[in-house]
Amino acid sequence: MAVAQAGGNDSRGGSWSQDGRQADTSIDSPSLDLLSSPLDFLYAEHLRQRQFAKLLGLIADGVINRRTIAAAAEFVENDLATHILDEEVSFFPLLRPLCQPEDRVDDLLALLSQEHREDEGESERVLSALARLSATEPPSDADKQTLRSFSDHLRGHLALENGVLLPLARSRMTSEALQLMSQSMSLRRNIKKS
Ligand SMILES: [Fe+2]
Ligand SMILES: [Fe+2]
Repeated sequence: MAVAQAGGNDSRGGSWSQDGRQADTSIDSPSLDLLSSPLDFLYAEHLRQRQFAKLLGLIADGVINRRTIAAAAEFVENDLATHILDEEVSFFPLLRPLCQPEDRVDDLLALLSQEHREDEGESERVLSALARLSATEPPSDADKQTLRSFSDHLRGHLALENGVLLPLARSRMTSEALQLMSQSMSLRRNIKKS
């Protein structure tokens, strides 16, 4: 899993900034010990995604070094992709049948899945922008726009999941469903559950 650390010396000697500011941000390591409590794990992952979204804004501002840009790219390729699988494969199918009609869970999950597809589509543009920034100069206006738009989209998605999806899951999911979800997410990471 990617762990982004800002600041410090760039191993390729490529640390740069437009105004000399030292960026002070990082992405925490995943809290794998929370996998036995899978909704708490998703909350923790959302926190890490907020850190990543902040990092993208700093990269767009041109105040992040190349090593951290590489870590941000790794986060897109690994952490975000795994998180979408956690939700769509391990979580949504278990939540859906436990909900009541008034929960309108089908509408909610359809919207969240659509946003996942949009993020997956945009992630290629983000990775291309990060690759350019890692190799060349401060960001172009187009690359800034790509990074900021992805960051904003992700923050909106997180707000909906933290504000609506996870509270709904806490009220509807049984201990058996939570255990199955935990097992599925652990298997994805090759972690054996007793
Ligand atoms: Fe999520
Ligand atoms: Fe999501």
